[in-house]
Amino acid sequence: MINLFEIYSDEHDVKAVTEVIKRGKSWADGPENKIFEEKIAQYVGRKYAAVFNSGTSALHSNLLANNIKRGDEVIVPSFTFISTANTVLLAGAKPIFADIEKKSYGLDPEDVEKKITPKTKAIIPVHYGGAPCIEIEKLQKIAKKYQIQLIEDAAEGLGSKINNQMVGTHGDSAMFSFCQNKIITCGEGGAITTDSQETIEQLHLFRSHGREEKGISYFNSTKPLDYIKLGYNYRLPTICAALGISQLEKIEDLIKKRQAIAKEFDLRLKECRQVKTPYKSNHINHIYQMYTIEVPVKEREKLQQKLLDQGIMTKIYFPPIHLEKLYKNKYKYSENMLPVTEEISKKVLTLPMHPKIKLEEIEYISKSIIEYFR
Ligand SMILES: Cc1ncc(COP(=O)(O)O)c(C=O)c1O
Repeated sequence: MINLFEIYSDEHDVKAVTEVIKRGKSWADGPENKIFEEKIAQYVGRKYAAVFNSGTSALHSNLLANNIKRGDEVIVPSFTFISTANTVLLAGAKPIFADIEKKSYGLDPEDVEKKITPKTKAIIPVHYGGAPCIEIEKLQKIAKKYQIQLIEDAAEGLGSKINNQMVGTHGDSAMFSFCQNKIITCGEGGAITTDSQETIEQLHLFRSHGREEKGISYFNSTKPLDYIKLGYNYRLPTICAALGISQLEKIEDLIKKRQAIAKEFDLRLKECRQVKTPYKSNHINHIYQMYTIEVPVKEREKLQQKLLDQGIMTKIYFPPIHLEKLYKNKYKYSENMLPVTEEISKKVLTLPMHPKIKLEEIEYISKSIIEYFR
C-alpha cells in the first residue's frame, strides 16, 4: 500500500528524545519546551510562541485568551478540518460558516464581509494543505475595518508564504499543528504564535490550570502558586518538545522535498484534462502538506476505489463541516448553503504526499489516474 503520508525522522530525532528520557527528570515543562517556543517564534517571525499538546488545544486556548465567549460569533470556513469550527463551539461561541474561493480554497472575503454582524469577534482563515490563503491581505483589511481578531488556522501551513511573507504573520495570532501528518511533527502538538504579550500570558494560564506562575517552575518550586482562572492541562510533553526542535531543524529540507514531489506529480498529471492539479502562482510558496487534485464529481468515488484496489491510499479533505451531523442537527443546516465549498468538496481527492515517496511511486500513482480516465 502506498500510504497517504509517512513520518520523516532521523537519528537526530532519536537522540533528542533519548536525551530527555535518559535525563530522568523534567519530562513536563522542561527546558526544551521554552527552546521549542523560541525557535517556532523565530521561524515564523513573531515575538512569541506557546506550545500545546495539540493544534486543537492551542486554538481553543487562543479563543479563550482573546475573550471569545458565549454570545459571540466567529467566521470560519466549512472546508477545513472539523477542529477549526469545534474550537469555536468549545469556547461557547457560534461558528458562522463563510464560503471559499476556488484557487487556494481559502476564505472568500466577499462572503466573509456579508456574514459580519455586531456579534462577530473573529475571523479564522485556514491555509489549506500548505497553500497560503490567497485573500489573506483582504481578510486582514476586513478584520481591521470591523476591529475584530484575525486568527490564522495555519495547522497545515508552517513555512508557507505569500508575497514572501510567512503564513502566521498576517493575523493577530496563528495556530500551527504538529500532528503526525504535518510538515514537522512530534506525534501530537500545536503552537500559537503572536506579537501580543497579553495573549501569550493568557495562553499560559489556560494551558496550565489557570495557574499564575510568573516565571516560577511549578514542578521545581516549593512556593504555593495562585490559581486565578479555570484552565486545562494542555501542556506539550517535554519529550515531544525535544522532538519538535529536532524536526524544526530540517524543515527547509522537508519543504524542498515536498515541493520537488509536487512538481513531479504536476508534470505527469497535466496531460490528463479531467484532473486539476493544485493552484500555482509566482507569489505563493506552497509547501504541499497535502497534494490535492480536483476530478469530475461523477468520477471521484470510482477513481478512489480503483486507486485503492491498486494499493494507493487517497482521502477526501474535506467534507463540509456544516453538513456533518453535529452541525446539521445543532443548527438545522442543509445543502446549498455554501455553493463553492459544496462543489469543491465533491471534487477533491488528496493523493499520497510525504518526503520519502519514491519517483516510481509517483509514476505509478500518476499512471493509474491517467489510465482510469483513458
Ligand atoms: C486545518 C486544521 N485545523 C486544525 C487542526 C487541528 O490540529 P490537531 O490535529 O493538532 O489538533 C488540523 C489538524 O489536523 C487541521 O488540519
